[in-house]
Amino acid sequence: MRIALIGTGYVGLVSGACFADFGHQVICVDKDESKIAALRRGEIPIFEPGLDDLVAANVKAKRLDFTTDLKGPVAQANVVFIAVGTPSRRGDGHADLSYVYAAAREIAAVLSGFTVVVTKSTVPVGTGDEVERIIRDVNPSADVVVASNPEFLREGAAIRDFKFPDRIVIGTLDDRGRKVLADIYRPLSLNQSPLMFTNRRTAELIKYAANAFLATKITFINEIADLSEKLGADVQEVARGIGLDNRIGTKFLHAGPGFGGSCFPKDARALVKTAQDHDVQLRIVEAVLGVNDSRKRAMARKVATAVGSSLRGKTVAVLGLTFKPDTDDMREAPSIPLVTGLLDMGAKVHAHDPAGMEQAKKELPDIEYFDDPYACVKGADAMVLVTEWVQYRALDFERLKAELAQPVMVDLRNIYRPDDMAAHGFVYESVGRAPEPKV
Ligand SMILES: NC(=O)c1ccc[n+]([C@@H]2O[C@H](COP(=O)([O-])OP(=O)(O)OC[C@H]3O[C@@H](n4cnc5c(N)ncnc54)[C@H](O)[C@@H]3O)[C@@H](O)[C@H]2O)c1
Repeated sequence: MRIALIGTGYVGLVSGACFADFGHQVICVDKDESKIAALRRGEIPIFEPGLDDLVAANVKAKRLDFTTDLKGPVAQANVVFIAVGTPSRRGDGHADLSYVYAAAREIAAVLSGFTVVVTKSTVPVGTGDEVERIIRDVNPSADVVVASNPEFLREGAAIRDFKFPDRIVIGTLDDRGRKVLADIYRPLSLNQSPLMFTNRRTAELIKYAANAFLATKITFINEIADLSEKLGADVQEVARGIGLDNRIGTKFLHAGPGFGGSCFPKDARALVKTAQDHDVQLRIVEAVLGVNDSRKRAMARKVATAVGSSLRGKTVAVLGLTFKPDTDDMREAPSIPLVTGLLDMGAKVHAHDPAGMEQAKKELPDIEYFDDPYACVKGADAMVLVTEWVQYRALDFERLKAELAQPVMVDLRNIYRPDDMAAHGFVYESVGRAPEPKV
């Protein structure tokens, strides 16, 4: 199959490299000339484990190429995937579909022969209808099927998720479209990944419902963490105790500083907006968004409480800036409201992240960055673990204590154990793990 991928970001580049690895002929297209130039030089513009080798191997095998011009690749393609961004629209939280529609117009103008155009971007229900309308408007004689194929990969584990998905959702009622997409994903049948066929609107809604549900699960356990702190219970054990029930499952039950990232916040907001437009109130998702926003803002106060005095003039070292480990993505990372809150309280902020500092500098220009976690905590009145990078999971406590001005650690990911930290002489705060009250 010949595939053109429009949009070469986290999803487009990973999907393109994986499709090429399945044996398809793939061209990734992006408007961003510097990104394409970097890829053509063999440089990977994002941090995603394993992606450099996968891209290099498939470029070498001449199955994967990059360009800024979609004309040739789209004209020759059997399938065109749209994987451009759908950020929150400024002002109202709806998904901004301008990139999707612009791509649809450009694609429409150069289609040739039977082509399946697929939205892989996360798009609100009805977007496929509009993409089809645009294409028929621009190019009435185009022989085209417009399908939905939402992507469920997670940054940091994107290649594995793409190659071993829990399911592949394909939204089209058209037999030719279904056959072409089944052929594209056939290599995955060896891994027994289920292909689920449905109509286009249902496929679009599945993606939003999945993200909203996962965001709800995280927010639920975060609220149980707050209650655990008041009651002297351990939220980690509550999570395990409920998660071992197969109806609940253990995943996405890690209490922390609130969810962020490039998908959950914007997709939950967009789902609420879509529902409002159709006179439906999604009260659970609305509550999840509200609870999560307040939680992220509350984390700076948690640090102040651990320090036990005003943060004015104090230095706080923040370890981990990206919204999760193994990515350089800073979109809506919980570190941003945390650091902003600390600065508002008059603190100086030191920061370290294994991969996200270049991106972070754009969001958080007024803090000091360090290349090493120990240099970062030197002279600080408290350190805060915000992202559970593997690099922070076996820190040298004696060295930390020697560098810190005060041995205060706020662990927003529950990496360490309260009893161990107390034994090492730390003032240690974590999430949802208060000591049992004495009776
Ligand atoms: N990042 C994730 O983990 C993830 C997971 C599942 C789904 N998604 C969804 O996938 C979509 C893409 O997300 P992303 O994180 O890869 O975004 P991204 O911002 O990393 O990449 C989007 C790319 O599209 C390019 N682009 C925009 N308009 C274009 C056009 N007309 N022609 C060519 N290129 C164009 C941009 O230059 C950019 O490089 C979004 O809808 C997102 O919600 C993302």
